Amino acid sequence: MPDIASDILVDVARKAALAAYSPYSKFRVGAAALFAESGDIYTGCNVENASFGLTICAERVAICKAASENCRQLVKIAIAVVDANGLPQVAVMPCGACLQFMREFAVSAQPEIIVDGHKQLYTLKDLLPRPF
Ligand code: THU
Repeated sequence: MPDIASDILVDVARKAALAAYSPYSKFRVGAAALFAESGDIYTGCNVENASFGLTICAERVAICKAASENCRQLVKIAIAVVDANGLPQVAVMPCGACLQFMREFAVSAQPEIIVDGHKQLYTLKDLLPRPF
């Protein structure tokens, strides 16, 4: 199983957050996901839409990029939020839709979820103990 230090993954997520398309919320989220097949890191940012319900979270953008390149075994994912100056903020927890999306690609039973600024390391099982 490929590994990469959590702080490096968080750093990649912070950089990904700079590309956030969030003109409505102004909330800049980035995600960096490590996949087992290639050992590659896939990044994503939130992409909002004038029809608000169509907004896609950073985590799902990263996972879709990976899945569309045949990487479907999520090892760990970092989430970061930056302010308008690109400075890191304490990040949010992934939403329920993103947790279910992670579950789809959680071949190892316990993908890790690293949330920037949180001391605790989470596993998907912690946050979504009884998935669909
Ligand atoms: N958002 C994410 O990208 N990831 C999360 O885990 C929570 C929320 C985005 C969606 C929307 O663009 C903005 O944050 C405010 O909800």
